[in-house]
Amino acid sequence: MNITVVGTGYVGLVTGTCFAESGHRVTCLDLDAAKIETLRGGGIPIYEPGLEELVRRNVKERRLSFTTSYPEAMKDADVAFIAVGTPPGENGDADLSYVLAAAREIGRHLTRYTVVVDKSTVPVGSADKVAEALREVTTQPFDVVSNPEFLKEGAAIDDFMRPDRVVVGVASERARAVMAELYAPFVRAEQPVLFMDLRSAELTKYAANAMLATRISFMNEIATLCEKLGADVDQVRRGIGSDRRIGHPFLFPGVGFGGSCFPKDVRAVMSMARHLGLDFDLLRAVERVNERQKRWLVEKAHKHFGTLAGRTFGVWGLAFKPRTDDMREAPAITVIEGLLAAGARVRAHDPVAAQVADGIFRGRGVTLVDEPYAAAEGADALLLVTEWNEFRQPDLARLKQLMAQPVLFDGRNVWDAAKVRAAGFTYYGVGRAAES
Ligand code: UDX
Repeated sequence: MNITVVGTGYVGLVTGTCFAESGHRVTCLDLDAAKIETLRGGGIPIYEPGLEELVRRNVKERRLSFTTSYPEAMKDADVAFIAVGTPPGENGDADLSYVLAAAREIGRHLTRYTVVVDKSTVPVGSADKVAEALREVTTQPFDVVSNPEFLKEGAAIDDFMRPDRVVVGVASERARAVMAELYAPFVRAEQPVLFMDLRSAELTKYAANAMLATRISFMNEIATLCEKLGADVDQVRRGIGSDRRIGHPFLFPGVGFGGSCFPKDVRAVMSMARHLGLDFDLLRAVERVNERQKRWLVEKAHKHFGTLAGRTFGVWGLAFKPRTDDMREAPAITVIEGLLAAGARVRAHDPVAAQVADGIFRGRGVTLVDEPYAAAEGADALLLVTEWNEFRQPDLARLKQLMAQPVLFDGRNVWDAAKVRAAGFTYYGVGRAAES
């Protein structure tokens, strides 16, 4: 099939590349000429393990190409994916203007029956609006499909190639057949394409992210209880995760969730509910707990040190999670801003997000260093914010020598508390018993 993908962000680029890899001819379009130049030159504008090689191979084998031109991208298209951003607008509503603009451009260039697919995360009812936008500009036949994407940054290719399920909202048999053919290489009996109506597909994406965010906030609350009760959250987590009705994933307490999806989608669900005169109390609590959790490290530091003014803190990890350079709504921003506001100095290291961090913190008293141990130099305490693998087995003797005081705040529970305490450190974890 000939596939057009509009938008070359995480979702668009991964979707286009993976469909090309499965043998289709894919044209990715973006209005950002600099991005398209980078992609044509064999580079990728985001950090995502394995993606660059896949892009290069498919470009070389002529299944994947990039353009800024709609006439070129839409020529002979059987399927057109809309994968542009839906930034939060006023009141947390997702802003649909990019999606509708893309739909109109697609519509203007239809030459025959085409399936137009919403891949962006959009409020329920958006498929109708996309259809309306198309009808305003074309008399060609089309179907609108909702096909939300569930990939995680840092594991995007694997998630796309081996999805737990593919959700497809359709209103016609013809579109259903096209989508079934498209996804056939990626699905199996146990990991099927789930066909449903358009509105249910649109809501499924929000419901999944809101549920996962709820699990995280729930575990962060349990962690707080553990600290007060002298229980250990790792043991409680294993204990409840072994119940098959609960399961193990997404039960890790930490410094709160961030990224481009969870915070935005939680707010979008609340906003959708509000428009209907409903109050999604549960999600309000999820958001409140998350805001509190992002301040957890700094509060712990306050409790330990009293005043933070004039102290130096090392920070390991800035990206909102490992294997990405994405700092959108990253807990590290709240942590560092909290330290700076209290008059402390910050030395921070991240394996890939330093450049992005520089854009956020430049001129604000944060020293970004190229190497983890340089962040610990002269520090009164070291804070682990993002659980990159390279931080998991630190050289404790070296740290102790470099730091002004041997104090560790482990925002992701990756260090062995007994081991670091035996090495002479004061250790704080999330929901782990205090030093006895
Ligand atoms: C998420 C969804 O998982 C994905 O399906 C959707 O398409 C986009 O949003 P992503 O934002 O890439 O993906 O990251 P994810 O791995 O889900 O982590 C989100 C946040 O939750 C991170 O800040 C992470 O640190 C935090 N998290 C995750 C926890 O604090 N505890 C956990 O147990 C899991």
